[in-house]
Amino acid sequence: MRSLINILDLSTEEIDELIDVANDIIDHPDKYAESCKRKKLASLFFEPSTRTRLSFEAAMLELGGSVIGFSEAQSSSAAKGESVADTVKTVSCYADIIAMRHPKEGAPYVASMNASIPVINAGDGGHNHPTQTLADLLTIKREKGTFNNLTIGFCGDLKFGRTVHSLISAMSRYEGIKVVLISPEELKLPSYVKNDVLKKKNIPYTQTTSLEDVIGDLDILYMTRVQRERFFNEEDYLRLKDTYILEPKKLEKAREDLCIMHPLPRVNEISVSIDKDPRACYFKQVLNGKYMRMALILKLLKEAEQCI
Ligand code: CP
Repeated sequence: MRSLINILDLSTEEIDELIDVANDIIDHPDKYAESCKRKKLASLFFEPSTRTRLSFEAAMLELGGSVIGFSEAQSSSAAKGESVADTVKTVSCYADIIAMRHPKEGAPYVASMNASIPVINAGDGGHNHPTQTLADLLTIKREKGTFNNLTIGFCGDLKFGRTVHSLISAMSRYEGIKVVLISPEELKLPSYVKNDVLKKKNIPYTQTTSLEDVIGDLDILYMTRVQRERFFNEEDYLRLKDTYILEPKKLEKAREDLCIMHPLPRVNEISVSIDKDPRACYFKQVLNGKYMRMALILKLLKEAEQCI
C-alpha cells in the first residue's frame, strides 16, 4: 500500500504529475467534483493545525468525498493510552485514506506499517512535512516557472522547522540549486540534513546569522516561525523568537522578483505590512496546498484501488 511519509517517497516525475493535476484542478474544478464520491478521508490530528487539517478536509470535500476524524489527541482513545498502530488498524475499518499529524517523529511511518489504507504524513514532530513541501513546490513552479538554478534562503528556526527539512530534500534533486541558511547559532540546520542531503548531493550552501547581508542574493526567501512547542525551556524561546522580523526596510536590497514564502502560522517573523507587497507568496502557498492535497489524494486512492 502506497503512503507518503517523506517527500522523497515521490520521484521528481511524480511531483511533476501532481503539479499538472493540481493546475488542471485549478482550471477545471468541476471535472473533479465527484472523483472521490463514497470515499472517506480520516483526518487524525494529534497536534494543532489550521491549514493542513482544513485543507485536507476541504480537498476531500471538493473531490466529492467525506471526512471523519479528530483534531486533538485528547478527543481520541490515544488519551486512554491506545497506540498509533491500534488506532490506524481501527481507522482502516472506517475510512479509505488517512492524513495524520503527530508530535512524535516517525509516528506516521509506524501508522503506514500498520494501516491497510494509504497514510499521508501531515507533519511529524520536528522531522518532515511532505504535503507542505508539495504546496511549496507548486508555489515555486507557478511563481518562478522552474525548480532549477534557484538560490533559496531559509531563515529562522532551521533546527525544528520540519517544512525546511522537507523542502531542502525536495530541492536537492534539481539542477543548479544554491542554499543560504540564515539562523541563530542555536537554531542551525541539523547535521543530519546537512550531511545526508546538502553534502551528499554537493549542493553549495552558506550559513550566516545576518539576513540583511544575503537578502540581495536570493530568488526565494523561506521565512519560518521559531517553534515554541519544541523548545525545552521558555527562556530560550523568548530570547530567540524575534531574531528575524522581515519589515519593508529589510527588503530594500532584495530583488524585484524575490518570492517571499512562509509555511505559516506566522507569529512576528513577517510584518503584516509586507502582505501587500507583490513578492509576498505565503497566502498563495495556503491555497496551493489544497490543490496539491487534492492531487495527492486522487493519486494514492487510485494506486490503492490497483492493489486490491
Ligand atoms: N503550515 C502548516 O503546517 O500549518 P498548520 O500548522 O496550521 O497546519
